[in-house]
Amino acid sequence: MAIVSAKEMLTKASNEKYAVGAFNITSVVQMGAIIEAALGKNAPVIIQTSVTPARFLKPEVIVAVFRALAQSVSIPICLHLDHCTDVDFCKKCADVGYTNIMFDGSHLDFEENIKRTREVSDYCHNIGNITVEGELGTVSGVEDQIKVAADEAQLCDPEKSLEFIERSGIDLFGPAIGTAHGVYQTENPVIDFQRLGKIFQKLNNPDVKTPLVIHGGTGLSESTVLNLINNGGAKYNVSTNLKYILMDSTFEYMSGHPNEYDPGKLDKHVKMATKQRIEYWIDLLGSTGKAL
Ligand code: 13P
Repeated sequence: MAIVSAKEMLTKASNEKYAVGAFNITSVVQMGAIIEAALGKNAPVIIQTSVTPARFLKPEVIVAVFRALAQSVSIPICLHLDHCTDVDFCKKCADVGYTNIMFDGSHLDFEENIKRTREVSDYCHNIGNITVEGELGTVSGVEDQIKVAADEAQLCDPEKSLEFIERSGIDLFGPAIGTAHGVYQTENPVIDFQRLGKIFQKLNNPDVKTPLVIHGGTGLSESTVLNLINNGGAKYNVSTNLKYILMDSTFEYMSGHPNEYDPGKLDKHVKMATKQRIEYWIDLLGSTGKAL
């Protein structure tokens, strides 16, 4: 079966110094495009949903479509719940078949973040092969229901990261290092690569135990992306870019075909635009050909 644990997939990426694209979706058309692109590139891939689309489409529906599409392909693939601040909804998504869950306690104090993340970790690990992502420090910008102003964002303290991971029981770690959700307000955001490298060394020396996650993947220069991977990023999250592709390709098609009422043709156009963009990301992240 192609469906694997995110930890297994990302430990390999971390060891071999490439990153796996983790793409946020709001529609089944996007899910199909991502799987087709990854299959064509023979690349591992992670599909993720934020909480609002997961509640809107229903976790059971997302899991059913994911399984139907993912089971028939040979590449490693995961379904991840992104930035969930609600312990009960994390458990619900784990129950119905998400393979990876992120509890986002970054807005809480250190002890409370550990306590609630631990509850999610224990629950998911008891079910079986479900891995858990946690976050320390805060990523600025807007991601679904989470809004953090740039001047309120706090970077992850490398000295606290090992304690956080050991006590919270997480499998994947998203440290705040200066990347931001949404569209960057400046062309050259200040990203603390050294901090990322230090955290990587603390957690993964000599062996990779806790792969690192990069949030805020849209809008960074290609050299920044490669630098993030060199310093230990193994899961690379992209959301805003795919929202833009979805909306722009929809507007483009509709303005070019104002009298056409065939949604299938519109879906095809959006799917192709999304697929091309995913192929770009897979190549940039270095995961092309890494499915085995
Ligand atoms: P962007 O919206 O900046 O691509 O960030 C995505 C992300 O980090 C989702 O968790």
